Amino acid sequence: MSVYQEIKTFYIKTFGCQMNEHDSRRMARLLKGLGMSPARSRQEADLVIVNSCSVRAKPEHKALSEAGRYRRNQKNRHVRVILAGCVAQQGGAELIEKAPYLDAVLGPDAIGNLPDIVKRLQNNEGPITDVIEHDLDNPCFTPLTTTKHSDVSALVTIMKGCNNFCSYCIVPHVRGREVSRARDEILSEIEKLAHSGCREVTLLGQNVNSYRDPSGLGFPDLLHEIDRQGAVERIRFTTSHPKDLSNELISAVAELERVCEHVHLALQSGSASVLQRMNRGYSPDNFVDLAKKLRGAVPDISITTDIIVGFPGESDRDFEDTLDVVRRVAFDQAFSFKYSPRPKTAAAGMNDDVPERIKADRLEVLQNLLARIEAESLVRLEGKMQEVFISGPSKRDAQISSGRTRCNRVVNFENAKSARAGTLVDVQILEARGHTLWGRVPLAT
Ligand code: SAH
Ligand code: SF4
Ligand code: F3S
Repeated sequence: MSVYQEIKTFYIKTFGCQMNEHDSRRMARLLKGLGMSPARSRQEADLVIVNSCSVRAKPEHKALSEAGRYRRNQKNRHVRVILAGCVAQQGGAELIEKAPYLDAVLGPDAIGNLPDIVKRLQNNEGPITDVIEHDLDNPCFTPLTTTKHSDVSALVTIMKGCNNFCSYCIVPHVRGREVSRARDEILSEIEKLAHSGCREVTLLGQNVNSYRDPSGLGFPDLLHEIDRQGAVERIRFTTSHPKDLSNELISAVAELERVCEHVHLALQSGSASVLQRMNRGYSPDNFVDLAKKLRGAVPDISITTDIIVGFPGESDRDFEDTLDVVRRVAFDQAFSFKYSPRPKTAAAGMNDDVPERIKADRLEVLQNLLARIEAESLVRLEGKMQEVFISGPSKRDAQISSGRTRCNRVVNFENAKSARAGTLVDVQILEARGHTLWGRVPLAT
């Protein structure tokens, strides 16, 4: 008899961006379609999928060590371990040699083959590598809704890949060239999601601003169509590249009722010369002007960002320029990282000359400034009424409800008549607490 027990339960560990988050949800749905169920804990899972990210060295190493740890932890059980995501795409079959504890390596564009892979693993086949290059002429955006979807909030891919080749970034090398999904397919997926209870969608792409439907429809027009369709209450999108954020997009965010007032606009650096070497296609002044235009047109807009410190050649002066732009734009929230050289990228050929200690110091200074500015942005909401999309009762206390404002702030609040997920309620913001807000639904007078 085989030592391999039946694969009945799964556990998925996700690293990286919302593309990976979305892929993990798709994989979970496919596995449920095979009759499998989520494991009660990772220790009990028969199948572990590590959905990896290779954008920086740290998450890449974490994904591989995580995959190894799952295998080593299982004393008498044979747990199957699949490495998925961008590290899988990048490493392909070589990973099996480097990491012999892997049963399969599965690239993002091969996710549709997951059921077949599980069946083969069940038959003791392996290790298996399934890493296909994505096909620009025949891109697969299939939503893979094999089981009923019941989330009130969903991610919807509108494009894949990236053509920008920012000099530090591995994404175009692992996710391939940019390709947009047809408008009708997007609208019909949203319609289906709405039928199964979804009330909010987040449109996903590495650079949604360059979305172009095969018929020529651009991103602002797509927003108009989804707003007009009226299937969901709220429409969000991520992420926008500053170099092609158009006036039409700003107007769409300002005018369309369902489109939320939030843009994630990655600054990366506030130094003109660093931005040039990053191949970002805008200057610090362009960025500040764009932020001003956004705040002018959409007064309550939240602008969030990504920043890298310690890019090759970044001087103290360059770093000061970044702090200066951060102060001028007053970002509502930000993610910041130490530069990490990535294979195949243009910057990998530059001298990574900022010492680790200086990268760490700069990151700390930047994060302290960002935290102060974020706290001020939260305090500005105190006393205001905010429309909140309810995600459900708070995990700690069922009397407390939790949700998000239109500008994507988490609010915990009391007095909700019903905390039904996916409904909208007006909440009075009483106080900023850490990264979240505290409020109450005013009693009817
Ligand atoms: N498409 C998105 C970014 C996706 S990657 C956009 O352009 O908005 C997410 C973030 O990781 C980037 O914005 C950047 O800040 C960071 N990043 C990417 N490559 C990196 C590297 N080599 N080192 C450090 N940070 C990096
Ligand atoms: Fe990477 Fe630049 Fe593309 Fe964003 S726009 S995914 S940072 S290459
Ligand atoms: Fe990471 Fe891949 Fe996303 S490299 S940031 S998971 S596209």
